[in-house]
Amino acid sequence: MRKIYDIHMHLIPEVDDGAWNLDMALTMVQMAYHQGVRKIFATPHSSAFREGPERVEAQYRRLVEHAGRLYPDLEILMGCEVLLTEFSLEQIIKELGEGRIPSMNGTGWVLAEFRQDVDAQEAEKCIDRLKSRGWNLILAHAERYRFASVDHTVLRSMAEKGCLIQVNACSLDREECVWIRENARWMLEERLISFLGSDAHRTFHRPPEVEGGTEYLYGHTEREYADAVAFGNAQMLLCGNGRKNGADGS
Ligand SMILES: [Fe+2]
Repeated sequence: MRKIYDIHMHLIPEVDDGAWNLDMALTMVQMAYHQGVRKIFATPHSSAFREGPERVEAQYRRLVEHAGRLYPDLEILMGCEVLLTEFSLEQIIKELGEGRIPSMNGTGWVLAEFRQDVDAQEAEKCIDRLKSRGWNLILAHAERYRFASVDHTVLRSMAEKGCLIQVNACSLDREECVWIRENARWMLEERLISFLGSDAHRTFHRPPEVEGGTEYLYGHTEREYADAVAFGNAQMLLCGNGRKNGADGS
């Protein structure tokens, strides 16, 4: 079985449109564990932290306690999927700086999503602005943005600026939407992918499926790169001592 770190899961129960309850969250952990996942970044939508940060924290602790008893060699780390828009950008920078919405495991890395139809210029502006404030971006499910299909060079240019790319593992092997699957596979061919995630929401809707995509990764790239994408990059960049190198939010 491959070792996999899933950096994108809506696993914390009852805080966003992810796991409905603790039982469902634990079943999702079980499903992930049996595919080889040994670290999960629980990444609720940023709105969950605005609506009830204490609740997110309490539900996270409850989940970690129960999952830890069942799977002592699996670690669940706190993250967040931040919705970035030009309109909300300054507010988000402030919230990140004040710790009101979390980065990935307290590091300087932020998992960010855009609206699916965002134009490339707006996305690049957001990336540049966050970077100028000391935050590094991981672009969530990069294969799902329309701009990525229209002009592949945009993703390359984002990567050259230091923005790292997460792709949903299932987009590589079983995604039915052709342009999404082709985007994911093109990024893999170009070695633009840095992380895999499941973006799992529930046991039955976007379930935590990473095994097929991981096999595709290992089957189509060299071992060193595949190891880095499956777990190595997350280990090196996101699992350290949690030291943040972001700005002060002022
Ligand atoms: Fe997500």
